[in-house]
Amino acid sequence: MEAIIIYFTGTGNTRFLANKIKAKLDDNSYHTITYSIDSESKPISLDKYDLIIFSYPIYAFNMPIIFDKYVKKLKFPANKKYLIAKQSGEPLALNNSSSYSLIKKIQKSKGDYLGEYHFLLPYNIHFRYVDNFVKELLNYDEKLLDILVYELTHGIKLKFRKNYLYALNSFIFKIQRLGGPLNSYFYKVDYNKCIHCNKCMNNCPTKSIDLINNKYKFKSTCIMCMRCSFSCPKDAIKIGMLQKWKVNGEYNFQEIIINPYIKGDFLKDHKSVFYNLFPKKLNEIDKKYRKYFKK
Ligand SMILES: Cc1cc2nc3c(=O)[nH]c(=O)nc-3n(C[C@H](O)[C@H](O)[C@H](O)COP(=O)(O)O)c2cc1C
Repeated sequence: MEAIIIYFTGTGNTRFLANKIKAKLDDNSYHTITYSIDSESKPISLDKYDLIIFSYPIYAFNMPIIFDKYVKKLKFPANKKYLIAKQSGEPLALNNSSSYSLIKKIQKSKGDYLGEYHFLLPYNIHFRYVDNFVKELLNYDEKLLDILVYELTHGIKLKFRKNYLYALNSFIFKIQRLGGPLNSYFYKVDYNKCIHCNKCMNNCPTKSIDLINNKYKFKSTCIMCMRCSFSCPKDAIKIGMLQKWKVNGEYNFQEIIINPYIKGDFLKDHKSVFYNLFPKKLNEIDKKYRKYFKK
């Protein structure tokens, strides 16, 4: 069976997830390729794949505009299996509507829509998650991945229930898509820190950074994916109006996973309006996991 995972990542979390899914599928008699898109990616043919997976980070209850535009250009062959593996920092059900347009397109093409899975990975904006919390989320992602593969291989499809309130919320928050172009005017580089490694410019997925007279210029094609500031080795990029929400420096997932001193038991000691959002979703994963895998 041939599978493809088409994904967009700003700061690497979706790539991490896509590689995890690939490894798990390959262990389950699939041959899987991952395909990362940027603003220059041309539509590819999906004809030779039995299973097509779409994966993206959620931006303000929506799919990133770059991913939305790309999937709109694709031709979805009928009678193929399709599923969505989206991910974000928190588990709000309001995030569900980020995929509505994609699901509609799959259904319209007479594709076999299997469902969507919402993985949790740390925030790359707003505030940094501590390693103990990241590990707890990664442990649940591992279970959700087992559930995904179990349901896929046992022909279990997830029902799609549209919620019009969520859809309205996503529509309102689409306004954030204007945020990138607008905020790009306020991006600044601290040249006392910058070492002109060009990492920001070379890695920008929308080619929104130019070097003119040895100064970086940020263009209005910015989608606020945070890749430039997040991966700047000198933390030299100021992200305009969102500076207070800036998170710098990649999460080292492999180190977090193998480090036995990181327990992954963060939530038991952290109760607040924000952290109380998590247990419901994590308990649902636990419940399903026990149902499928209890021995
Ligand atoms: C512009 C922007 C908006 C975001 N909005 C949300 C959001 O509404 N809800 C959420 O849980 N996470 C939100 N996030 C966090 C990302 O979804 C999360 O950190 C994700 O793992 C990043 O994936 P990536 O590394 O593949 O880009 C947002 C991130 C960015 C950059």
